[in-house]
Amino acid sequence: MRIAVLGTGMVGQALATKLVSLGHEVMMGSRCARNEKAIAWADQAGEGATEGEFGDAAAFGELVLNCTAGTASLDALRAAGEDNLADKVLVDVANPLDFSQGMPPTLEFCNDDSLGERIQAEFPRARVVKTLNTVNCEVMVEPARVPGEHVAFLSGDDETAKGEVAELLESFGWPPGRTVDLGGIRAARGMEMYLPLWLSLYGRLGTGDFNVSLEVGG
Ligand SMILES: NC(=O)c1ccc[n+]([C@@H]2O[C@H](COP(=O)([O-])OP(=O)(O)OC[C@H]3O[C@@H](n4cnc5c(N)ncnc54)[C@H](OP(=O)(O)O)[C@@H]3O)[C@@H](O)[C@H]2O)c1
Repeated sequence: MRIAVLGTGMVGQALATKLVSLGHEVMMGSRCARNEKAIAWADQAGEGATEGEFGDAAAFGELVLNCTAGTASLDALRAAGEDNLADKVLVDVANPLDFSQGMPPTLEFCNDDSLGERIQAEFPRARVVKTLNTVNCEVMVEPARVPGEHVAFLSGDDETAKGEVAELLESFGWPPGRTVDLGGIRAARGMEMYLPLWLSLYGRLGTGDFNVSLEVGG
């Protein structure tokens, strides 16, 4: 499959590398063509790896992953182009973390709003699925780093799109029983508001190799 990975940071690199290793053709997108990080990634990722501007990548991809800084994701997706996102599954792994006041970051918006919803509202023809934003990027592509039956959440308004994303996650090593569908894209609120807890756990544990599992009583 042809996949666009929008974002040159550690998340974009981890997901793009995994996707190439699974045999997909991947174009990494950034604000400017010939982005140094994107070129370095494409050079070492091997056959099937290319880079370009956000718009080039989104036009190339049959599926698009948003791995940009959450506070800039709407700008990045505008640059990607609404027509290039139309009818495509748009996987949103970003968190709207605002680092402008130092650490720890705060959520730029939350409670009655979320980045997932803002993206779906601004790009109504895209089939937005929020997922993987609650684990670090190494766990995203190698869930076995964390022992136990921990879970990946999904939310989105398009059931078929969520099914396709669950299959993609399965190819990363997330078994079907460990992807938890939380419902429509509105559930992105809770997924994003988990971040303050994630940050506290990271500070306490000193590693990003952790995740939550669900135990349900009778
Ligand atoms: N780190 C993790 O393990 C982890 C886990 C879960 C979710 N997340 C989320 O995943 C996303 C990516 O995280 P990251 O650490 O890999 O990268 P990042 O540093 O948060 O974002 C890098 C990307 O954002 C783009 N960007 C920054 N400012 C922009 C602007 N004003 N307009 C358009 N694009 C802009 C950059 O474009 P250029 O390439 O052009 O510079 C770059 O591609 C974030 O939303 C983060 O919260 C991270």
